[in-house]
Amino acid sequence: MKNYIIHDPWCIIEDRFRPEHNEFSESIFSIGNGRMGQRANFEEYYSGKTMQGSYLAGVYYPDKTRVGWWKNGYPEYFAKVINAVQWIGIDIEIDGEKLDLATCDIRRFERRLDMKGGVLYRTVVATMPNGRTIQVETKRMYHLFQSDTASLQYSLQVLDADAAVSVTSYLDGDVMNRDSNYDERFWEPIAEDIENDLVVVSETKKTKFRVEARLRHVCRIGGTEQSAGNKTKRRLYTGESWTMAVKAGEPICIEKYVAIVSSMNHPLDKLAEVAMDSLRKITSKDYSRLMAMQAAAWARVWAESDIQIEGDVAAQQAIRFNIFQLNQTYTGEDARLNIGPKGFTGEKYGGVTYWDTEAYCLPFYLATQDPHVARNLLLYRYQHLEKAIDNAAKLGFTDGAALYPMVTINGEECHNEWEITFEEIHRNGAIAYAIYNYVRYTDDQEYLMSHGLEVLIGISRFWAQRVNWSAHKQQYVMLGVTGPNEYENNVNNNWYTNRIAQWCLRYTLAVLEQERTKRDDRLTALLVKVKFKDEERKRWQHIIDNLYFPEDRERGIFLQQDGFLDKELVPVSDLPPSVRPLNQHWSWDRILRSCYIKQADVLQGLYFFEEEFDEETIRRNYDFYEPLTVHESSLSPCVHAIIAAKLAKEEKAYAFYLRTARLDLDDYNNDTEDGLHITSMAGTWLAIVEGFAGMRVRGGKLHFQTFIPKNWLSYAFHVQYRGVKLHIRVRQDGFEIKNLSDCEISIIFNGEPISVSPERKS
Ligand code: BGC
Repeated sequence: MKNYIIHDPWCIIEDRFRPEHNEFSESIFSIGNGRMGQRANFEEYYSGKTMQGSYLAGVYYPDKTRVGWWKNGYPEYFAKVINAVQWIGIDIEIDGEKLDLATCDIRRFERRLDMKGGVLYRTVVATMPNGRTIQVETKRMYHLFQSDTASLQYSLQVLDADAAVSVTSYLDGDVMNRDSNYDERFWEPIAEDIENDLVVVSETKKTKFRVEARLRHVCRIGGTEQSAGNKTKRRLYTGESWTMAVKAGEPICIEKYVAIVSSMNHPLDKLAEVAMDSLRKITSKDYSRLMAMQAAAWARVWAESDIQIEGDVAAQQAIRFNIFQLNQTYTGEDARLNIGPKGFTGEKYGGVTYWDTEAYCLPFYLATQDPHVARNLLLYRYQHLEKAIDNAAKLGFTDGAALYPMVTINGEECHNEWEITFEEIHRNGAIAYAIYNYVRYTDDQEYLMSHGLEVLIGISRFWAQRVNWSAHKQQYVMLGVTGPNEYENNVNNNWYTNRIAQWCLRYTLAVLEQERTKRDDRLTALLVKVKFKDEERKRWQHIIDNLYFPEDRERGIFLQQDGFLDKELVPVSDLPPSVRPLNQHWSWDRILRSCYIKQADVLQGLYFFEEEFDEETIRRNYDFYEPLTVHESSLSPCVHAIIAAKLAKEEKAYAFYLRTARLDLDDYNNDTEDGLHITSMAGTWLAIVEGFAGMRVRGGKLHFQTFIPKNWLSYAFHVQYRGVKLHIRVRQDGFEIKNLSDCEISIIFNGEPISVSPERKS
């Protein structure tokens, strides 16, 4: 764990340079705008520990798979959202020596991420080996108001003496991925231009994404703009240098404005024009105007998604950090994009889509954005249905059965560990559940007919083929799976997977029936299209009625899988801290045999299908499984926080909240240097809204069942629901509900039905 981020309600601050943790800080201070983003790398050259990372949403490379032993069915490649053109670079030389903070004596250092205004600031005072003391102040933005552009302001002073300074501002497209499987470079040069703007045009190998980066910059000394400097270009690089004599304390200011556009969004022959136009729009304004526009764009986001917590600044900072990062990663404008577990903050997980999106992120976007944002997340999977059917066919499934990939960017499977690729099939269920969740929340029945049902049929067909009839049990069983708890592989009858499969078959049949009664011609057309046979209905019903679920009647619990009780059941609290996290200390063999659970598994099912179980059943299962859970997936604490809140285990719920909320800020799992856990950040939001405020949708109505942690004075949030926007504030001694829309809404609040008129107070 680390504990050095200074607590502040709106800012993330570090006030000292810790070179050994620089990669951690680079992750924490990452910024982006949904279209692109970047780790908080320094502008100037840095020879210390750093991971360079600038990413463009959807621009990926299929990196050839690397595995020890090939297994039939493995994908040929792992698609990665790759490190892209680096536009921030500014090399500085003072009295003939290159500025490199790794070699300096750092006198003062501060990084500050202003989440309200969407600006990253840095201040450094440092003495170089040649004795020169410099001060650097920077501001950097990925513009939310114009997402193909970004800008920075870099100000440098030599404090102690007059000096000869040389500054080179550049674009560098010759970048690599640290995790490249074969140390391959993914970019090829197309053109470099230094005539007017600095331009680098490059293209990804194989996928042929063409990217044009166009940079305009100015260099001023004490307010006077320097005339053109010395321009250079080479393969994938363009730069301009100025050499000048400055007086002690005289500020040199460099402003850099960049437009980065790609063939993903524009025709090849229009790239230059679009980049020029985008650049013109931002360079026609001065920097303070751009900052005001950025603040206004972020103000609109905060107006919908902020959560205010009074009385606990650590919790306040943390929830805002999570919300900020989610909004930086995905804005919902483009159904080809999705939410990578690391967003734009690192390479791990390749920047592509996991079940995390459907299981964890969807509710956040549903409640805080216009419904088209969540719909686009569903459409992403709809567009991949054909590929999911091909993917299942590769594994031997037939007749339109669809298995969505564990990891994907374009619909094809990228993951290559058999126990996950072939066995962690519960992900298919989460995609069906997201359709249900979306329709339940928005009442967009139309989506079911136009897109959802087709996906549900494909997924149901998969489940119907994946189970087999056990003559011994005289029931259907599901063998050889990995549940959400990846610390168990190749198990039989994972309760959660069986449950979500059964639910999915039942829901698909219910939707088929519902649509049949509407006599919509589109249903007939769809059933013809997917070659649906009536026997399928019967078989599905038979599976629903005869699926086996492992349970222990004596303890009154569901068993995570067959044989779970044969394990030696020693609670996590008995483990010495020196062996945690287990995945960094124990052999895989030992982990697999142990009783320790990586993340919610049975409890994930009880969370999704809460209404099907009475509270005592949920309590018994929670009391059995929680003490065995190590939460070594970032996705785990939030589900536990929600269930603990429901069971009125308030201290536990709060502890889980803090763990999920400050997971990255305090580096709980010791892995934030790889990038932030973006998808679990939605879980933090869930922990407050579904956990503490107990929000649910039941029977088409919003329900709340609230509690407030002891040390909070109040918390408040907005939710959008079917055209109504509510602002809810929970205090220690009561609550307020405001209806910020035009129409009345009936809700159930702490068990009482209430009708909330526009702007009414309770
Ligand atoms: C978790 C998975 C998750 C993945 C990406 C893994 O550690 O076990 O459930 O999908 O991370 O976040």
